[in-house]
Amino acid sequence: MDINKATEAARRRYDRIAPLYDIMVGLVEKRFRKWRQMMWSKVEGRHILEVGVGTGKNLPYYPSHAEVVAVDFSGGMLKRARSLAARGKASVSLRQMDIQKLEFEDNAFDTVAASFVFCSVPDPVRGLMEIERVCKPGGKVVLLEHVISANPVLAWLMNLVNPVAVWFGGENINRRTADNVRKSGLVVERVTDLAGGIVKLIEARKKR
Ligand SMILES: C[S@@+](CC[C@H](N)C(=O)[O-])C[C@H]1O[C@@H](n2cnc3c(N)ncnc32)[C@H](O)[C@@H]1O
Repeated sequence: MDINKATEAARRRYDRIAPLYDIMVGLVEKRFRKWRQMMWSKVEGRHILEVGVGTGKNLPYYPSHAEVVAVDFSGGMLKRARSLAARGKASVSLRQMDIQKLEFEDNAFDTVAASFVFCSVPDPVRGLMEIERVCKPGGKVVLLEHVISANPVLAWLMNLVNPVAVWFGGENINRRTADNVRKSGLVVERVTDLAGGIVKLIEARKKR
């Protein structure tokens, strides 16, 4: 499918999911909390970009000293993040934007962060190249992502079930996100396994 059509279809899917998203992830969110905390403990500097902010699940973890700009292409998801931000959960500027075409200047942010996003970006390498572009030289990138298993049997199963996962929740369960980060030109510094090889915290850096 053409990338613009795929992006539009993904955006509309998230607009549809938005009212139910917090309920859908409610059961697993308890487990996610410590992973989110871990990811936000890794951010550096004051100017932070969060891409794919969704309904704002990371807002409570933003460092108090940080100036955060957070983007998402789904107006429905952003509406919920805005209402959370208005309740004073964090200081953040929320903007509607496609990760694959970020409307920021080069070298603008000290850290770029995302959680559970690159499973659904239609062209993940293009999105990661945009992150590389807007990150300052030597700046940090932290990603919390579910990825395909290194176990061949489980990987085969994940590939088989992937179309259903995309149809149901818009998420690919068979992405190789650390490899995609390397393809974008960022340098992967550490990949920490958080859950049976299928949830990873990826720490990367833009070359100086
Ligand atoms: C699974 S949700 C995760 C939301 C949030 N980061 C969290 O941890 O709960 C994925 C989010 O990425 C956003 N997203 C996916 N592709 C995107 C793109 N190309 N540009 C901007 N946002 C995108 C979706 O709208 C959705 O809000």
